[in-house]
Amino acid sequence: MNQGIRERMKQLVNLINQYDYEYYVLNSPSVSDAEYDRLYKELVELEERYPEYALSYSPTKRVGGKVQEGFSEVEHLVPMLSLENAQTKDELKKFIDNVAESLKASPTFTVEYKFDGLACSVVYQDGLFVQGATRGDGFKGENVTENLKTIRTIPLQLSKETQGRLEVRGEVIMHIDDFKKLNEERLAGGLEPFRSPRNASAGSVRVLDPSITAKRKLKFYAYYGFGDKLSAKSHSELVALLKDLGFLVSPLFEVARNYDEIIRAYEKALSERANLPFEVDGLVVKVNEHRFQEELGFRSRSPRWAVAFKFPPNEAYTKVKEVRFQVGRTGAITPVCVFESVFLSGAKLSRATLHNIEDLLRKDIRIGDTIVVRRQGDVIPYVVGVVPEKRTGHEKQVEIPSECPECGSLLQKRGQAGVFCENSLCPAKLEAYLEYIFSKNCLNLEGFGSKICEKLLHFGLVKSFADVFTLDRDDFLKLPGFKDKLATKLVDELKNKTQNVELWRFINTLGIPNVGRETSKLLADRFLAIEELEKASYEDLVSVNGIGPETARAISNFFKSQSWREWKSLLDRGLIKLVKTS
Ligand code: IVH
Repeated sequence: MNQGIRERMKQLVNLINQYDYEYYVLNSPSVSDAEYDRLYKELVELEERYPEYALSYSPTKRVGGKVQEGFSEVEHLVPMLSLENAQTKDELKKFIDNVAESLKASPTFTVEYKFDGLACSVVYQDGLFVQGATRGDGFKGENVTENLKTIRTIPLQLSKETQGRLEVRGEVIMHIDDFKKLNEERLAGGLEPFRSPRNASAGSVRVLDPSITAKRKLKFYAYYGFGDKLSAKSHSELVALLKDLGFLVSPLFEVARNYDEIIRAYEKALSERANLPFEVDGLVVKVNEHRFQEELGFRSRSPRWAVAFKFPPNEAYTKVKEVRFQVGRTGAITPVCVFESVFLSGAKLSRATLHNIEDLLRKDIRIGDTIVVRRQGDVIPYVVGVVPEKRTGHEKQVEIPSECPECGSLLQKRGQAGVFCENSLCPAKLEAYLEYIFSKNCLNLEGFGSKICEKLLHFGLVKSFADVFTLDRDDFLKLPGFKDKLATKLVDELKNKTQNVELWRFINTLGIPNVGRETSKLLADRFLAIEELEKASYEDLVSVNGIGPETARAISNFFKSQSWREWKSLLDRGLIKLVKTS
């Protein structure tokens, strides 16, 4: 009997670990959420009843157990080295030439991403995860086994049994989307945002409470390894093996025969950099053949067979010229920092919005200050902080407005960190809301840019957002410079795009605080019709995976607002029609 239970527990562990791998590493789940939940629940119940049979590599260990008192020290069997940098193509050329000259041979090279996160090592004994450590000073790191266990892309059991000890090295990183979400949550909770995805990953691994790590959507990318029984003869074979064993590896991985081929890979990577889901600060070029790696050996702190070929930096110093205050669609007042223009990842930048006034005060940005500006991926730039050492004493404090810069009404403090213009007729608010309604992830109205919004308001054709939906050709013809053809085109576009609106787009268009594109999709998937969402209780809303209490409250409040009554009337009058989902 007990033997049967033991077997079942083992079977469940194997199955769920396999499903986690499919979901988190391959991005291609083979079971439904419901089936997964059922198996997981069965395992939890069995482990509660028979704790003596619970396996060390059970997926239930990933939620993060007890808070630790401190991290013990781990001595690295083989030091975790850093890499020499090549900042320019000439420096890369020098590396390639030196290698060829020392070897008196022509090795091949591998090209992969240089991840920007926290370097960690994970150790397996006979295929089971036994220890995780940070790099530390390269010789000794911190024992973060419990924290790393919570990262779903670190297998608890390798998909193929490997005999003896295997150590895998890689980087714990946070994807840019997850980083942004985390910072939004921190700001909403009055906490200081992380400076970069790299800081967020380091801060999330090096916490004593592993349940915090578990909540932080971290990923581990493997790029190096060694063990008792590894048969790989080259780095490319090693990486293929790591992938086979269940690890995520660099999605860019090429074998190049010479300098020109490396440069080609570099140019391509650089052009794709802005669209990557995570930050990379360059490529790592490695001598591929292990026999050549061995021949080249190590310097005291870095291997002679590898080099980090850096991308142009995505951070720069500049000087603050002024700080303006902008009124957003919800009435939130957002400070905009205007600075001396700088080039960052190919774009000329001269302004960055701050999160809110609180953010401005916390960063203590003054006119004339030297600041660090940063840009990640294709995302709009932001101000990391000031460089206080550069202050001369001539910097000027920013005056925080007490009145709306657009309509003059008294500003109100709302919630943790927001200052708002509450005037429902504030023209700046309405203009920002119109721009939002027309934008790509809302109604996606082509030709309805910021200029048109400004004109529609300026010439009195739109006094409330609802007026947009009754505009006809004659209305557009009243605007200066608008001829027949353009007016017809705009009316056609308006008709087309409002008569067949997907539910998620409509939800996003409503502009509910905290509800962006992704949340709108979650809600549309769950409720299938706007009437259902309107009827949903707070409890219904928080039960949706990915919807927190604050968002649920915002949604409930929205459906009691005047704005919703206006949207509803547009639906009732058939001016907006939603796509019916069966
Ligand atoms: S290989 C013995 N490959 O960059 C060579 N390192 O600045 C081991 N890093 O400490 C390193 N991406 O933490 C390697 N694809 C990659 C990497 C990578 C990021 C980190 C690593 C290293 C640091 C050096």
